[in-house]
Amino acid sequence: MDKLILGIESSCDETAASVVLNGRTVLSNVISSQIDIHKKYGGVVPEIASRNHILNISQVIGGALSEAGKDFSDIDAIAVTYGPGLVGALLVGVSAAKAISVARGIPLVAVNHIHGHIAANYIEHPDLAPPFVCLVASGGHSHIVYVKDYMEFEILGRTRDDAAGEAFDKIARVLGLGYPGGPKVEKLSESGRCDAVSFPQVEFSDNCFDFSFSGVKTAVINHLHKLEQRGETYDKADIAASFQYAVVNVLTEHTIRAAKAKGTNKVVLAGGVSANGALRRSFDGAAKANGMELYYPRPILCTDNAAMIACAGYYKSLTGEFADGTLNAVPNLKL
Ligand code: KG4
Ligand code: ZN
Repeated sequence: MDKLILGIESSCDETAASVVLNGRTVLSNVISSQIDIHKKYGGVVPEIASRNHILNISQVIGGALSEAGKDFSDIDAIAVTYGPGLVGALLVGVSAAKAISVARGIPLVAVNHIHGHIAANYIEHPDLAPPFVCLVASGGHSHIVYVKDYMEFEILGRTRDDAAGEAFDKIARVLGLGYPGGPKVEKLSESGRCDAVSFPQVEFSDNCFDFSFSGVKTAVINHLHKLEQRGETYDKADIAASFQYAVVNVLTEHTIRAAKAKGTNKVVLAGGVSANGALRRSFDGAAKANGMELYYPRPILCTDNAAMIACAGYYKSLTGEFADGTLNAVPNLKL
């Protein structure tokens, strides 16, 4: 039987709603980004994010329904992100979803945002099915996940400090590129040499799949200070490209090693950082060299959106696990 899911996402600075059929077919995907508001502060200001979600959420949900040519009476379940993320931001989506659920008698599904990022790949690749190894790299998290089944996850590695996207954002700030940093570092890197400076790529003992990105960030900052103290000129593009290379290389090597350890030949990329062209090229090469199949979503499905939440909610709804009026935001929710 067909299932129409309304997805709602408000965990950070995007207010988003989407209508998805059977977890795979997107009928609408409305995203109201607050980037222009937050960029003057150099990053997301949580309270301003919450206030803008409140202003936008009704219109975004209404827009998703009308773009899909549906109304609430057609919706079989509402899937909402309840964590991880900014608590005030999450509460806006959760409250809206609960209100609609109660008012219209529509079942409610609580979705983990990281699960959502992984699920974006089911939309992009209708034939993709678990098991596979997935790198989830975004502004808030960097995980290597073994997706055993649609609702079964094993974390193989995670960052011990900064997330990969967070490192991109910080380096962009240091280089004076502004927010959000990832796309700006990528653009500048195109005219730089990735072997100009050798920045650290942290490895832990025991073949561990964990990451650490605070060292590379500090190394870039120290390198720039030294050059400035000596009054030396430098090419920002070389710094950006060398930084990007260090991050991309470590993400690629750990993920491919994890896939080999799990004996799977399917490697999947997810999260905002997976929109990065250098990362995709690096994985393309590594996957080919190791006889693996590589999957990633188009950029608009890599960064925050509600279609991925609707898709994840669809698979969760199949397990029969629904939320109720007691659903709360969980800012540090684990997968
Ligand atoms: O998935 P996402 O939209 O939000 C979180 O769940 O965090 O990811 C946003 C992050 C930001 O840190 C942004 O700088 C990074 O993804 N990002 C990129 C690129 N596009 C977005 N990082 C590197 N290259 C990109 N092209
Ligand atoms: Zn995200």
